Amino acid sequence: MSVQDEIRRLTAPDIRARKGGEPIVCLTSYHAHTARIVDAHCDVILVGDSLGMVMHGLETTVPVTLDMMILQGHAVMRGSKRALVVVDMPFGSYETSKEQAFTNAARVLKETGCGAIKVEGGKRMAETIRFLADRGVPVMAHVGLTPQAINTIGSFRAQGRDETDWARIEEDTIAVSQAGAFSVVIEAVAEPLARKLAAAVPIPTIGIGASVACDGQILVLEDMLGLSPRVPKFVKRFGALGPGIEKAVADYAAEVRARAFPGPEHVYPMKGKKG
Ligand code: KIV
Repeated sequence: MSVQDEIRRLTAPDIRARKGGEPIVCLTSYHAHTARIVDAHCDVILVGDSLGMVMHGLETTVPVTLDMMILQGHAVMRGSKRALVVVDMPFGSYETSKEQAFTNAARVLKETGCGAIKVEGGKRMAETIRFLADRGVPVMAHVGLTPQAINTIGSFRAQGRDETDWARIEEDTIAVSQAGAFSVVIEAVAEPLARKLAAAVPIPTIGIGASVACDGQILVLEDMLGLSPRVPKFVKRFGALGPGIEKAVADYAAEVRARAFPGPEHVYPMKGKKG
């Protein structure tokens, strides 16, 4: 394959340019093998810090470390070749100062090869987003429900159900856009607010439980595949892999116990013996 024939990876500016155009398809992935599948159909692969809950069985994303994100980010980069890979900055890795955010974001870009990072928070993160964007770090922002704030917000409840909250969420969305974010995840907000947010900013809004009014959609892969035991109400299950895996494992266990596996077709012929 010549250099010209190689598939070009989508970049943050490519995604930014899709505002108001064809919907942007995004999914999470944490592994090379799922990244390979997702890459064929998605514009953005997010290595979300949801990996703490999905892969590691943690109650929240708070304990996730930068090293965990870098390890899985690297795996996803190896498994994919076309989608823009965005790696989440975990709780505690970017909030202290804009300098801390840059040092850790630069580590993520250098060590994984990904094309962008994501941070949670609106107005309070604007200065940091500006600092990162000015220094070559493409930032996807995340407003509405921000799971890393679970210890202050108390639950993973939908945001903006009360119209008095709308102005705050709108200010957050406009602030991250003006600060230079190339896109913004809007999590768990009602449809009329999502529509207002999409109209308020010139960058794509990527919804998760935020209606079709957004410029793109994202889901946690394991949730939409039916692999997660508990999922938020808005998740549509596009697959039912949990029961399929359970049946395959049960069939395997039954064959091993019955000494039926490996069967004769798996027995290697002995060298020097005929018949
Ligand atoms: O961590 C994650 O997977 C996310 C998505 C749910 C947007 O932030």
